Amino acid sequence: MEFFIYTAVTIIVWSLSVTCLLPFVIVLKISKTYRDMWFSWFFVRIVLGLWGPALARVRKRGFKFLEEHLMERKSKIPLEILEIGFGGGFNLPFYPKNSNLTALDMNESFIKYFEENRLKNPHVTYKKVVIAMAEDMSKIEDNSFDVVVCTYVLCSVENVRSALKEVKRVLKPGGKFFFIEHILYPNFSWKTILQILLNPIWKVYFNGCNINRHHDEEIKEVGFSNVVTKMCYPIDTLLYVRPMMIGIATK
Ligand SMILES: C[S@@+](CC[C@H](N)C(=O)[O-])C[C@H]1O[C@@H](n2cnc3c(N)ncnc32)[C@H](O)[C@@H]1O
Repeated sequence: MEFFIYTAVTIIVWSLSVTCLLPFVIVLKISKTYRDMWFSWFFVRIVLGLWGPALARVRKRGFKFLEEHLMERKSKIPLEILEIGFGGGFNLPFYPKNSNLTALDMNESFIKYFEENRLKNPHVTYKKVVIAMAEDMSKIEDNSFDVVVCTYVLCSVENVRSALKEVKRVLKPGGKFFFIEHILYPNFSWKTILQILLNPIWKVYFNGCNINRHHDEEIKEVGFSNVVTKMCYPIDTLLYVRPMMIGIATK
């Protein structure tokens, strides 16, 4: 049944995109300003409106996994956290108490949504917001963070290797890179084929997000000392982004 539904959805999305939605697709393709504005609204109000609770369960599970890896932390000393690709700030409720947050994103249009969530989460101390690409975080000093948080971001990053090198640079020795990413189904099946077929048009609506990537090899290749991952497949999310990898890599 799922096969027929998702095959039909893939065909319908493509068909609409090359007919009545074509002018909209062209605008998104050529205008970065419009694409950024569209995506921040679409992601926060529509995607998280529909699938926010399902993603919140994955975030909760991920942050629990992170806390298990921070057991030796002395909770009186603030945890210095950098979140890359903060989006609407939907990770904030899950941050450990006594965290100092620096938040980085390339898309300024997310700030107003981030501010809404920031006010709801006073347990986090906000240091600064940086508008920059994860691939070039030159505004941030070397060895300055205990944790770098990155959820559903590597799928959109143009140069994943450069971004990962930057993450490693800004982490303190022993610091943790915590990530949650949707990935390509690990075992080849019709689901993989649908992800590959939909990817070119998905990318347009989701501001560069790819549904056909793996990340664990790249994370290992950048030279983190230890990479631990676990998979989850939340059934109440769209099949295209259902395989999700939660992971922690140590500098
Ligand atoms: C799908 S949203 C996820 C937002 C948030 N992390 C979450 O879990 O709800 C992807 C976010 O990553 C940001 N992003 C994508 N590529 C980036 C890059 N190269 N550098 C910085 N931010 C980036 C986008 O602007 C967007 O805010």
